[in-house]
Amino acid sequence: LGRVNIDGTVVIGEGEMDEAPMLYIGEEVGTGEGPQVDIAVDPLEGTNLCATGASGAIAVLAASTRGGLLKAPDCYMEKIIVGPAAKGSVHLDATVAENLTAIANRLNRSVKDLVVIVLDRPRHEQLIEDIRRAGARIRLIGDGDLSAGISAAVRGTNVHAVMGIGGAPEGVLAAAALRCLNGGMQGRLVPTKEGQEERMRAMGITDPKRIYTERDLAPGNEILFAASGVTDGTLMQGVRFFGHGIRTSSVLMSLRERRIRFIDTVHVDERPDAVIEF
Ligand code: FBP
Repeated sequence: LGRVNIDGTVVIGEGEMDEAPMLYIGEEVGTGEGPQVDIAVDPLEGTNLCATGASGAIAVLAASTRGGLLKAPDCYMEKIIVGPAAKGSVHLDATVAENLTAIANRLNRSVKDLVVIVLDRPRHEQLIEDIRRAGARIRLIGDGDLSAGISAAVRGTNVHAVMGIGGAPEGVLAAAALRCLNGGMQGRLVPTKEGQEERMRAMGITDPKRIYTERDLAPGNEILFAASGVTDGTLMQGVRFFGHGIRTSSVLMSLRERRIRFIDTVHVDERPDAVIEF
């Protein structure tokens, strides 16, 4: 990022609270020349997934023209994420059963044929019970509601919705991907720690109970979203080490160009006898 010809500002990054040395919110990146760009990053989304080799860890960056990504504090966000077919049919204030019925109707199937991803957390006990009572299938994940949200917007992944409370930064990043994928989302910030409401106000959020759509969270007309698999996932394979280099799998989405590129890259070791695997 330091070498790219942009006048960039990190709007979603490593929390300032951790006194992160790089990619903290407010950090200026790029050469300072070129377009003004807002950057949202999560260099390792799913830290525990990566540490344990579980699936779904990704490295993520979203960029937009200035003001195109919400400056959200590092708190929780209540979310519901669906694919293009069910966009506009769900509401955070509706009951779980109502939302699942709406999604099922849009997908022309019954509720029992829906798969909903939920973070496996004690706070979701009631949500999980409500989803089960409505008859849908649940996939509980240990971490990584961002990759889950991206999967929900892509047909054929067998994920039809993501529900529950996860990180707000992941919510903004998910919204950037959903804009490119025509997916739908509603999110509401959930401050749980002292000082977070104050932080929200300082970041310009006047109504803490506001429900945001994917367009509110990522309003930019030009959005780029890039992610690489760190461990294996639904849309991307993780980093593979083949002895003479590594192979990575990434997705690059561009809202303006209406392009989704899946990129499979072999990074060859710098040695003359390196053998490239197919
Ligand atoms: P990290 O990679 O920062 O650990 O985030 C993983 C994650 O599972 C996110 O996908 C999710 O939004 C958030 O943490 C949920 O937070 P918590 O673990 O506090 O429930």
